[in-house]
Amino acid sequence: MRLKDYRALLVGAASGIGRETALAFVHEGARVAVIDVNELEAIHAVELLEGEGGNVTFVKADVACEPQLREAILAAASFLGGVDVLAQFVGVQRAGTVEGFPTEDWERVFAVNVRSQFLGAKYTIPFLRQSERGVIINMASAAGIKGGPGLTAYAASKGAVIAFTRALAAELAPSIRVNSVSPGWIDTPFNQPAIEFMHGLERVNAIVRDTVPLRRQGVPKEVAPCFVFLACEDCAYITGQNIVVDGGRL
Ligand SMILES: NC(=O)c1ccc[n+]([C@@H]2O[C@H](COP(=O)([O-])OP(=O)(O)OC[C@H]3O[C@@H](n4cnc5c(N)ncnc54)[C@H](O)[C@@H]3O)[C@@H](O)[C@H]2O)c1
Repeated sequence: MRLKDYRALLVGAASGIGRETALAFVHEGARVAVIDVNELEAIHAVELLEGEGGNVTFVKADVACEPQLREAILAAASFLGGVDVLAQFVGVQRAGTVEGFPTEDWERVFAVNVRSQFLGAKYTIPFLRQSERGVIINMASAAGIKGGPGLTAYAASKGAVIAFTRALAAELAPSIRVNSVSPGWIDTPFNQPAIEFMHGLERVNAIVRDTVPLRRQGVPKEVAPCFVFLACEDCAYITGQNIVVDGGRL
């Protein structure tokens, strides 16, 4: 119960790594509010979390829309009675070479992956300042450290998340810790654009076997514990870090 009675706001936790992290947080004793745009997936997630004994709420918002995100954060904080942990998972991937890449897609990737984390922090920090153990954990990506062909927008956006995290950690110390997590290949539908760009899953899995020392993709369950660790008091002296969970690839 490393997160007993923690009030955790998880943005983008209706599916994938965010949902698995929400489950891990519930198992560790946290109360959880989920913000997500996908109502159907979120309802399933809440059912799953409540089935595990979780005290959970869901607030719908598109993180690219500032008023929606701001209202959702206020509603979630009111349900929780404050916020100790903000974890931001929302991401979007677009693949394609730069010459043919629509400028609107570049802007969308930055709005969803980077601007939303700035807004999430901006509107949650007043609550985190009231907590004795305020923490922000941002989802970055190994692609933000070593990108690849066809992934320039995504890689640049995640590199920005890592830089934002480090600067914010300096700004908010000593009262609030800020870290990021950078997974490599994790098996969720999220990677479909990259898989298509790389000519299919078989080819991707062959590349993974050749380039990842642990010779396979990871699963969301293998990323969630990193969020638990960064949220809890066991790592009270860790801030400004980017933890890579990539099977050793980098
Ligand atoms: N899967 C991987 O291999 C991998 C690797 C590195 C980093 N990541 C990062 O992990 C995060 C989660 O990825 P995942 O694989 O769990 O994917 P996912 O698609 O399962 O999760 C993304 C969640 O964000 C929500 N979301 C998307 N757009 C939104 C919006 N505009 N407003 C509100 N919610 C929105 C989705 O509904 C979903 O619940 C992303 O930031 C991604 O960049 C994933």
